[in-house]
Amino acid sequence: MKKKVLITGGAGYIGYHLVRQLLKRKDVYITVLDSFLYEDSSLNEFKKNKNLSIIKGDICNLYDMVKVVKNADIVIALAAIVGDPACALDEEQTYSSNYHSTALLVQLCNYYKVKRLIFASSCSVYGASDILLNEGSKLSPLSLYAKTRIMSEELIKKNVSQNLEWIILRFGTVFGWSKRMRFDLVVNFLTANSFFAKKIDILGGDQWRPLVHVSDVANALFLSIFADGNIVSREIFNVGDNKLNVQIKDIAEKISSKIKKVRINYKHIPFSDRRNYKVSFDKIRTLLKFEAKYSIERITSKEINAVINVLKSGWITTGHKNLEFAKEINKIVGSKYCVPLNSCTASIHLALIAAGVKENDEIITTPMTFVSTINSILYLKAKPIFVDIKENDFIMDEERVERFITKKTKAILTVHYGGFSANLDKLTQIAKKYKLELIEDAAHSFGSKYKKKFIGQDSKYCCFSFYPTKNITTGEGGAFVTNNNKIFKRVSRLGLHGISKDAWKRYSKVGSWKYDVKEIGFKYNMTDIQAAIGLAQLSRYNELKKHRKIIYGIYSDGLSKVKEVEIVKGNNYSDPFQHLFVIRIKSKVINRNVFIEKMKEKNIICSVHFIPVYRFSVYKKLLTTKVKDYPQTEKAFQECVSIPFSSSITKKEATTVIKEVNKIFS
Ligand SMILES: Cc1ncc(COP(=O)(O)O)c(C=O)c1O
Repeated sequence: MKKKVLITGGAGYIGYHLVRQLLKRKDVYITVLDSFLYEDSSLNEFKKNKNLSIIKGDICNLYDMVKVVKNADIVIALAAIVGDPACALDEEQTYSSNYHSTALLVQLCNYYKVKRLIFASSCSVYGASDILLNEGSKLSPLSLYAKTRIMSEELIKKNVSQNLEWIILRFGTVFGWSKRMRFDLVVNFLTANSFFAKKIDILGGDQWRPLVHVSDVANALFLSIFADGNIVSREIFNVGDNKLNVQIKDIAEKISSKIKKVRINYKHIPFSDRRNYKVSFDKIRTLLKFEAKYSIERITSKEINAVINVLKSGWITTGHKNLEFAKEINKIVGSKYCVPLNSCTASIHLALIAAGVKENDEIITTPMTFVSTINSILYLKAKPIFVDIKENDFIMDEERVERFITKKTKAILTVHYGGFSANLDKLTQIAKKYKLELIEDAAHSFGSKYKKKFIGQDSKYCCFSFYPTKNITTGEGGAFVTNNNKIFKRVSRLGLHGISKDAWKRYSKVGSWKYDVKEIGFKYNMTDIQAAIGLAQLSRYNELKKHRKIIYGIYSDGLSKVKEVEIVKGNNYSDPFQHLFVIRIKSKVINRNVFIEKMKEKNIICSVHFIPVYRFSVYKKLLTTKVKDYPQTEKAFQECVSIPFSSSITKKEATTVIKEVNKIFS
């Protein structure tokens, strides 16, 4: 038996998405009742579907309502006059459509023994508050719209009969496209204005709104239809996602960063809309297992669509997208050859092999790095020789390198730190003098420059990471770039089992089933799914770089005034695409560890880059490093903290971090 679902207002902004989603199920029959006050074509694409009937009618009309409620198992009440300005136009009509209609609906649901009533309410019932609000918080309506939602909620709670399950969903501030658009909603309104008028007027801007995408709202309704009544009946749920509580000014800035030449005018004048609410969505996440899919965050529809297109293309492993990605990297970096790989670790490993590193060779490197740098050396049974770092940039001190060179030294493996560049001129000069190879671990430094040249532009061996925290991400991934064609060919081959020629082409028309294995290689290739994400990220290269620069500037300004904090400033030959924001804690009272704990209490998660590698037990066993030989590395480790820094951190979040740092030391 099909579930018979009645949706009042089903041809509206949210209704369109809900109908679309529900029609994918074969066990549901949908009746839409709508007055078509705004337009009547939004559901045209579904008109022929035999699981849908669309009826013109009024929720205030007894006759219209009896006709549809009497056959329904589940009723979803979306129809209403929605939003403060629309409700303010005609008070009497608003009471009638938003409250008296609920009374009629409840009576009919009781009488016709409907099984479940799902009622659309709004988070605007919370009015204005500075605390995080949940479903039990005090309601303080600031508009007729919010007032009539609360009146209807109360009516449902009191008058619904024992056998009728009710669920009230309080939607956050909805945004996004629908067949029946609404431009009175803040994100949609500001987007349209930016596009056409090239300006955004913001009154105040500090007001919080819990945003939620219109198709996520439809999904919450969808889940409510099928959820277990023992868990969800007689419950109120806020519909949204904790990470989408944002301030109006953040929305404006996000929109202006996407649409060219938009001016934001902040007007600090009294205004009528005093709504300000930050809402908790823990309950819907826990009980209804609801999570918003859409946000205005770091992974955008560009990355999502790129992945979908690859999945649909029929070629999901290494292929054309890899070639395109490599080409795009070469274009940005100015490098000659690029091999996309599954990680930077793989890239370093292959670079060392291509550089001819063998068992017992010595590799001069830094202890201030991630374990992959050292593991890659140890995979080849070679020996890492550590050189202490410089105080200003945490990078291996090039002036100390020469004294560690022996007959066994094969290569220098330098790590560019946090976006800052190593002193490449000096290292190149040393490498030449002693006939050593120079390998660059540039996991942190895609898009950074050394003296006006991109890192990797002139390199023989340069390794990038596209791990999720990195400047550009592919989920997991890395790349090797070189100016040498022979090395390029060798690394390409080593990355795919040591197979000759373009191994991936053997499954395509242009390839051949015949191949040779020239040497024992590795399974280090990047998939086209990853490459597609990478291409989408590279198309946003300027936006991502600019964002990090802005946040870096905010931190620099805000923290330079805190005397217990010293910012790791880098060096004057770097032009970084900033990857980390590292500070040193100089307080005698609150040390680095206490600082991290205090930040954690405020939900601000910091990290440490890095725990010097010689401190890990496995290397203690393998190497004979003496901690006392690394005074700068040890001091840096004791004092350093990486505060939250990423492509998705907002200005507001950065300001909160600064405030909390100030509080800790005040
Ligand atoms: C300095 C350094 N090198 C290498 C890596 C390894 O990168 P991947 O995770 O892409 O292998 C990292 C990872 O964070 C790193 O910080």
